[in-house]
Amino acid sequence: MTQDLQPGAAVASPTRFLTGITTTGTPHLGNYVGSIRPSVQASFRNDVRSFYFLADYHALIKCDEPARIQQSTLEIAASWLAAGLDPERVTFYRQSDIPEIPELTWLLTCVTGKGVLNRAHAYKASVDKNEAAGNDPDADVTAGLFMYPVLMGADILLFKTHKVPVGRDQIQHIEMARDMAQRYNHLYGEHLVLPDAVIEESVALLPGLDGRKMSKSYDNTIPLFTPREQMRKLIAGIVTDSRAPGEPKETEGSALFQIYQAFASVDETQALRKAYAEGIAWGDAKQLLFERIDREVAPMRERYHDLISDPEKIEATLQAGAQKARAEATPFMGELRRAVGLRNLATKKSAAATKGKSVKSIAPAFKQYREKDGKFYFKLQDADSRVLLQSHGFDSPREAAVMISALQKEGVNAFAALQNQLQISPGIEVTEVQATLRFFTSETP
Ligand code: TRP
Repeated sequence: MTQDLQPGAAVASPTRFLTGITTTGTPHLGNYVGSIRPSVQASFRNDVRSFYFLADYHALIKCDEPARIQQSTLEIAASWLAAGLDPERVTFYRQSDIPEIPELTWLLTCVTGKGVLNRAHAYKASVDKNEAAGNDPDADVTAGLFMYPVLMGADILLFKTHKVPVGRDQIQHIEMARDMAQRYNHLYGEHLVLPDAVIEESVALLPGLDGRKMSKSYDNTIPLFTPREQMRKLIAGIVTDSRAPGEPKETEGSALFQIYQAFASVDETQALRKAYAEGIAWGDAKQLLFERIDREVAPMRERYHDLISDPEKIEATLQAGAQKARAEATPFMGELRRAVGLRNLATKKSAAATKGKSVKSIAPAFKQYREKDGKFYFKLQDADSRVLLQSHGFDSPREAAVMISALQKEGVNAFAALQNQLQISPGIEVTEVQATLRFFTSETP
């Protein structure tokens, strides 16, 4: 679980999952089945830490309607909360509330080859289209579209993400984020975690009203929280073949059957399969589908409408989420800034005084040593090799190691309990010690 962590953080900590949702459009059943429902389920696992965010900076790349961005942000936040996302359990925030994301975007921009971005699918698709039409290759291409993968890399790397659940179309972006992390670490030391894409093979694509993949671009969607009667009408419009009531129906290739399967239990699906064979009328099958979906969606729809009518409350939830996210992002960004040389000049003296150290930054670390008094000590150094604190003398190295381990595992909490046994170096603030300890725990305080 810790394979890709930097050495200093090699303490068993939960695997971190991160998912971004671009805030354009209104969530539909395909989004629910493919992304919202599995993500909410995953968020209840105890061995993972989940990060969910509203990618509103990404939305600006493809949408220049301010009202739509705002409305979509509200609808998507309300949808995730209505579907059961617990903002206490997970870190749920809005991208644009985290200034460290654009800050890291710049640092990553400076370690990303322009040629790599030239090959990004979304950008290349626009160029190919222009060339096919005989236009300038970059006609109507913004630098935002070109930089899309770097912003996404910052989203992922800022939170030391291990796993990013994505559709196949996004794998390339995760690979690019990995490359950025590798390049940064090569230049500046092991700071960034290399993320992996997780492809949800089991989640079949939900067909839309016309049988093609449910997607806004095909205009074949069923909005997740459309009013009940509207949902019934839309379901009545799902394509079927022309088999009459009483004639056996094929489940293979039936959009109606596939959508039903995405909501029903194994037994329920089996029952519908039987009904197909026995020639259920399409109208009856549609009624079954409507009832099955409504059973799952109705309670959420009610919560959704309560939420959407109280935008202040959603705003407060997102603000709290941003605070939780920044409790980690701010100190980590500080570390990343110092690593590249964006440093407080006053630290120059002490760093230079550390003989034999590479000029480049290193990760924070605990160092154990023995003094002339025969006792065993440890100290905590930050990424600039400044000694932040020293222990008292222990009779055995094991005792020192036990305290180090407590500080690495429990971070600021252990520090609070042990503070009277530790000596903070002159000129060092308690908050600096706390920020550095969070590097090891990577947890919110
Ligand atoms: N690009 C993703 C999409 O369009 C949204 C996104 C932005 C994202 N940043 C991310 C997804 C980081 C995963 C991780 O669906």
